[in-house]
Amino acid sequence: MPNFTPQFINELKDRLDAVSLIGDSVELTPSGKSYKGKCPFHQEKTPSFHVYPVDQTYHCYGCGAHGSMIDFVMRQKALNFPEAVKMLADLVGLQIPSDGQKSRYSPKELQKFRSLYSTLEAANEYYQKALTDSSAGLKYLQTRGIKPEIIEKFALGYAPNAFDSIQLALARVDEQILLDCGLITQSDKGKPYDKFRDRIMFPIRDMRGRVIAFGGRVVSTDQAPKYMNSPQSLIYNKSKYLYGMYEAWRSRASLGSLIVVEGYMDVITLAQHGIENVVAPLGTALTLQQTQLMLKYCSEYALCFDGDDAGATATWRALEHGYSLLKKGQRIRVVRLPKGDDPDSYIRAHGVDRFRDLLERAPNSSAYFFNELQAQYDIDDPEGKAAFVERARTVIGEIPYELYRDFMFRKLQDIVGHDIPSLGLPRNPSVGSRTSAELNSKSERSPDRMNERLQKGERNTLRDLVYNMHVVPLISEPTMTTINELRSESLIFDVILRIRKDRLINFEQLLASYESGSPDHQRLVRIAENPPSGLQETGLRDPLLNAIDTLIVKFKREIARREI
Ligand code: UTP
Ligand code: MN
Repeated sequence: MPNFTPQFINELKDRLDAVSLIGDSVELTPSGKSYKGKCPFHQEKTPSFHVYPVDQTYHCYGCGAHGSMIDFVMRQKALNFPEAVKMLADLVGLQIPSDGQKSRYSPKELQKFRSLYSTLEAANEYYQKALTDSSAGLKYLQTRGIKPEIIEKFALGYAPNAFDSIQLALARVDEQILLDCGLITQSDKGKPYDKFRDRIMFPIRDMRGRVIAFGGRVVSTDQAPKYMNSPQSLIYNKSKYLYGMYEAWRSRASLGSLIVVEGYMDVITLAQHGIENVVAPLGTALTLQQTQLMLKYCSEYALCFDGDDAGATATWRALEHGYSLLKKGQRIRVVRLPKGDDPDSYIRAHGVDRFRDLLERAPNSSAYFFNELQAQYDIDDPEGKAAFVERARTVIGEIPYELYRDFMFRKLQDIVGHDIPSLGLPRNPSVGSRTSAELNSKSERSPDRMNERLQKGERNTLRDLVYNMHVVPLISEPTMTTINELRSESLIFDVILRIRKDRLINFEQLLASYESGSPDHQRLVRIAENPPSGLQETGLRDPLLNAIDTLIVKFKREIARREI
């Protein structure tokens, strides 16, 4: 029996984000302290359905529907309470404790989360107020052309030039909490002092608008480092959030397309010039998790990093992350600025219209991708060409969106000037050339196989299998019957059946039984590119048969789950 203790339910609610959860199915726009959209529970022309981030509830003024996120899911998906809790727990990656098992966090720990949030919020209020009192801070922002609306929108503040101002301002807060929030640090002798001094404070907010950390920029030029950032904490993971995401969302900017820049100040300056769909990583290079976060909200983003070598390296790395996640309908574009410029300085020098021009004319990432690579290799000589192809195909091979991946491979072939057979693309993609046997074998296959991409365990077993096809005759008859039933679930079962039926003995024969250029054909080619280490010599029979058995059990379980 699952154990839905109040602690567990609270923890689940803490992790949920009402706006993004409901925003997945209802188009929401900010409206005062809430977000508004058309009610999913009754027909309406004008929106009267509100989502409240503060307490994570929804309310419809039209039909009266209201409640928590759990209520929302129960109602929308017609689930009972345990089912809804389970679905939401899966969504946020929380394990439901079984009976006798305690919640992952004790009530005391949960209390601690709350104190961290409320302390950071109070700190931010203090810094904001200190900015209005500080001529140094305000003056600095003025010299950079930042207007009061933007100061307010980004809740910018100022940390006074003293070692104890935040401690005095938050005198009632436990010292340990201030340390845990990263607002103070300890000297070697253990004496606490303010971490941020004489700095413009940029609060970093999660999608609920809660302050989770700060970045602080020096005001006077003789201080180093230029930026200081809050350390990671129980509630802050710098590789998971993006600066400006919440503000972009609040500003009603379309999150469907985003611009990624390097610096906090770039986000601010662009917003100042009316470009509000801008985000930046948090003191590090753009991470895979941040890329995931963006692609959850947008179908397109433009990378617009600084016009220096570091910016070029960051762009390439960001492209690799992006390509490994890109799905149908999504694209990445790349803006490269003149050497020495960042978006902020570019706008100052050339005006926002020129910047908008650059953005609009920004090439698709594929053009940038191939240009960058071509500049690095001499593709007129075979070594250079091989290195060029290897480098390109490791990145392209990761693209999950099949059609796009194929076109990238084709483009790669066009550039080197001839077919590269190991890419597994059809040489002659005319339908007329298919044999009837090929067409038949295709129609045997279920078109809706669940996993179009092979999972890791599956891929390894398949790889072992294609190098050890001789184990297939050893599979027992009853197991073969089961494999037949599971045929549409995984390529591996289809492969086993073909080997058995046509008594195939080598990989060439197996490959020839698939339509050239079909997704399965390409998958097999890719799989066979990396032989399993040492398998052929030792002929790992039993482990391979065991692995096949394991996959059978796994898929049966998956089907049973689907049928519930
Ligand atoms: P930049 O030096 O480009 O800063 O660093 P910026 O945002 O453009 O600021 P201005 O225009 O010089 O005022 C880009 C980002 O790298 C991180 C910060 O996140 C910064 O916004 N950074 C930079 C640090 O974390 N620490 C540093 O010392 C410098
Ligand atoms: Mn800058």
